[in-house]
Amino acid sequence: MTGGAGFIGSHVVRQLINAHPDYRIVNLDKLTYAGNLANLDDVAGKPNYRFVKADITDFDHMCSIMSEYQIDGIIHLAAESHVDRSIKDPFTFARTNVMGTLSLLEAAKRYWQSRPEGFDGKLFYHISTDEVYGALELNLPDEPAPYGTELFVETTRYNPHSPYSASKASSDHFVRAYHDTYGMPVVISNCSNNYGPNQFPEKLIPLFINNIRKGLSLPIYGRGENVRDWLYVEDHAKAIDLLFHKARVGETYNIGGFNEWKNIDIVKLLIKVVDRMLGRPEGFSDHLITYVTDRAGHDLRYAIDSTKLATELGWKPSLQFEEGLERTVRWYLDNQAWIDGVTSGDYLKYYKEMYDGR
Ligand code: NAD
Ligand code: DAU
Repeated sequence: MTGGAGFIGSHVVRQLINAHPDYRIVNLDKLTYAGNLANLDDVAGKPNYRFVKADITDFDHMCSIMSEYQIDGIIHLAAESHVDRSIKDPFTFARTNVMGTLSLLEAAKRYWQSRPEGFDGKLFYHISTDEVYGALELNLPDEPAPYGTELFVETTRYNPHSPYSASKASSDHFVRAYHDTYGMPVVISNCSNNYGPNQFPEKLIPLFINNIRKGLSLPIYGRGENVRDWLYVEDHAKAIDLLFHKARVGETYNIGGFNEWKNIDIVKLLIKVVDRMLGRPEGFSDHLITYVTDRAGHDLRYAIDSTKLATELGWKPSLQFEEGLERTVRWYLDNQAWIDGVTSGDYLKYYKEMYDGR
């Protein structure tokens, strides 16, 4: 696993450790601002788990880790993941997401080709995003969702808009190139927006939960009408486990819950849930809503069609959004120490630069 100390990665590590006690799981992570070993406190002592601090762009180190641990399967999540950061600092995204993925691919190829069995029984599983497909029209604006006639399917043409999604699209192309050129066994999945415990509070849902609790403003980009398709992170982790074992090699699978929401509706729901859980009267935090300058190149709508995963492998999400959101809010309110631990240093500096003067 790469990126196992991050938000989704930590749930995937936990899923694999618990579901496959016979596996040896190596979690390789650079521990950037987004990586936090506290996410894995409950499983760090398990006998089938090892943590290795390493940077995926360090090709020599990737090669030595492949042979030292005799890696035969890779689930690659390590990435720079925040769109707003990519707008400010695209080079870091190209370096980690493109060059890092390439260095991991090449290290895996060399190690596996050096083995007598070659690529047999090996898999490079790359975790990607629905953002590579670009943005969909919002041509059914009224409730209920879907908010448009089109959904992203696995054959939708790539059309990324942000430096983040361009870097993820590029990494997907490299993964396919290693399959088509060298015959490396690969799988790619493209998932919609995740939410749940342990998400870094620069992303919409944890940022807003924390701000509502503290009485800070809720900066909604543009008019809050952008649509995202939300999936509970543990459902994504289960889909990854399933695909790692059952996916057809060389294939791409979309992962999503057919769960489109306008940002403004999520924010109103979050205010309701957080205020209720904190014993505040209804409407107490409504005044925190603040419309701010839109994100540059802000994609209007994402919506994933995950029919292929459902029909081929029987996967479906386990939670309704309202239930998942309640669980998520409860977790952040009960884990203030975690939030305080990560809202320091680099993050505080970034947050200040981002919002000062808005
Ligand atoms: P995250 O930012 O929470 O975690 C990323 C992890 O990668 C961190 O632990 C970080 O330390 C590590 N990392 C970063 N650069 C590294 C490097 N050079 N070497 C080694 N480790 C490094 O990200 P996330 O939200 O958990 O996303 C994980 C993956 O899933 C990413 O590839 C992302 O593109 C993809 N994805 C995310 C979402 C989402 O909604 N968050 C949806 C679909 C796909
Ligand atoms: O779709 C999958 C993607 O989802 C992943 O690939 C990314 O790694 C992940 O960060 C996420 O990207 P988004 O840009 O959709 O997520 P974010 O939480 O940053 O924003 C969600 C929506 O909320 C988006 O339309 C922008 C808006 N937003 C976000 C923030 C942080 C605001 O209006 N205000 C904010 O302060």
